[in-house]
Amino acid sequence: MKKWLNYLAPFSIVGLIAIFIWNVATHGQIDHPGKFTYEKKCAGCHGDKGEGIETLIPPLYAVDFAIQNFDSLPCIIKKGINRTIVVNGITYEQPMYGVEISQVELTNLINFMARDFFSLEREVSSDWVKEQLKSCK
Ligand code: HEC
Repeated sequence: MKKWLNYLAPFSIVGLIAIFIWNVATHGQIDHPGKFTYEKKCAGCHGDKGEGIETLIPPLYAVDFAIQNFDSLPCIIKKGINRTIVVNGITYEQPMYGVEISQVELTNLINFMARDFFSLEREVSSDWVKEQLKSCK
């Protein structure tokens, strides 16, 4: 056993803490775990910042529709949505197909959007998501 390694350990912990503090200080907040799922499964259509694409794909950032239909988000995401909807005053009618996603990913994703897109102080549980999914049409 190399004894000098034991002396280095405390420094690496200090280093990790320093990197963490640096991240929070430069980004303002820690990346939400749901952000990764958003980037992988939604950003291609809805945009990196939830800005949408013209009149084809509705935005998600600060939208009245998703906030008013918050309880339906699990179903909208998992089963898709295909009707004429009005989002922040603009009409959209392209279909969105259901997304292949696990219950845990869905929970993190909704919590990411609640915080970063909708500015809601709301945090849902995986049980809540499961309950909502029972009532999908
Ligand atoms: C292939 C493109 C595509 C992908 C991928 C996609 N969407 Fe959509 N989404 C749409 C379209 C198009 C609509 C409009 C549907 C309609 O008019 O019925 C929509 C509508 C929505 C709505 C309701 C309208 C609004 O803006 O509030 C929400 C919420 C939503 N999508 C969330 C998501 C989330 C979260 C993901 C990732 C898991 C995702 N979508 C992935 C195309 C997509």
